[in-house]
Amino acid sequence: MSRVNGLLHIKYPFIQGGMGNISHAELTAAVSNAGGLGTLGAGTMTPEAVKEHIRKIKEMTDCPFAVNLPIRVHPQAKEIADLIIDLKVPAVSLSAGNPKPLIPMFKEAGIKVITVAASVKQAVKAEEAGADLIVAEGYEAAGINSVHETTTMTLIPQIADHVSVPLIAAGGIGDGRGVAAALCLGAEGVQMGTRLIATKEALVHAEYKKRLLESDDTGTVVTGRAFGKVRRLLKTPYAEKLIASEQAGVSGEEYDSMTDERRHVAGAIDGKLGEGHLNGGQIAGLVKSIPSVEDLFQQMVSDAETAMMRTGSALKLKSGKVRDR
Ligand SMILES: Cc1cc2nc3c(=O)[nH]c(=O)nc-3n(C[C@H](O)[C@H](O)[C@H](O)COP(=O)(O)O)c2cc1C
Repeated sequence: MSRVNGLLHIKYPFIQGGMGNISHAELTAAVSNAGGLGTLGAGTMTPEAVKEHIRKIKEMTDCPFAVNLPIRVHPQAKEIADLIIDLKVPAVSLSAGNPKPLIPMFKEAGIKVITVAASVKQAVKAEEAGADLIVAEGYEAAGINSVHETTTMTLIPQIADHVSVPLIAAGGIGDGRGVAAALCLGAEGVQMGTRLIATKEALVHAEYKKRLLESDDTGTVVTGRAFGKVRRLLKTPYAEKLIASEQAGVSGEEYDSMTDERRHVAGAIDGKLGEGHLNGGQIAGLVKSIPSVEDLFQQMVSDAETAMMRTGSALKLKSGKVRDR
């Protein structure tokens, strides 16, 4: 059993990443019921909405779950943090900002703290501040990305060499082979976003799931570089419009209004692809079905086991010895 399972009291070391506007109570509970750690995406919610979603999650599952709080993004971050404590949420995931000031209050309340990092420096600081687990997110991931653009393949082993708390790999993981690869690189679990949007329980517009199914290996674009607001989106006409406007020298204010929260809802929830965008990671090209979360996890576990066995034998001769050079 991985340390992640023991710390979070879950069956599989699979975490559903917090997803603003997407990871509502239904998806969160489905992931937790399937043996992973579901995460409510509180980044775009009012404190009242967070409270209501937590109530619904507790109605739908007895299993542990987390709430994601993107610190810098949420204007009422402290209020949400207090709510998480008052409502005895088992785990919190802190992203987009310095987690240090918030970590002690969660630890005192016995809440497991997961922090999201995109560099060795951030990961080391999070461990020093008391994080129980660190999610390291590479550039393949959907949504807001680090300006450093470090990929999961290179980020995970480098962070693994510098921290001793369990490390979770995020960005570009969507099947059992990805799980096996992440474990080989030094992670003890995975966090997923894109793959979990293409599940029965994700309450997004059908058009979003259709776009994921139709996506291929060149199906995403990176927007916002000109403003240091790097975000990976599915390649839709709206995403291409964003890139064209960046290239045409649009102002920061205009760009913000073209990418604000209403645009996420318009694309992901209302399916109005001319008015809003769809966050999507590079793994989108691998999405070819819309299973239940439970079926997805079963398949991933079985495929990861197969991949690990194949990996184990790949460097051996028939005798079982490693080949000399
Ligand atoms: C629609 C969407 C919204 C997201 N919103 C957030 C968020 O609010 N907070 C956060 O920490 N990460 C957010 N993410 C990132 C995910 O939590 C996760 O780390 C990422 O999707 C993993 O990479 P993958 O998409 O390749 O699986 C979002 C991702 C998606 C797809």
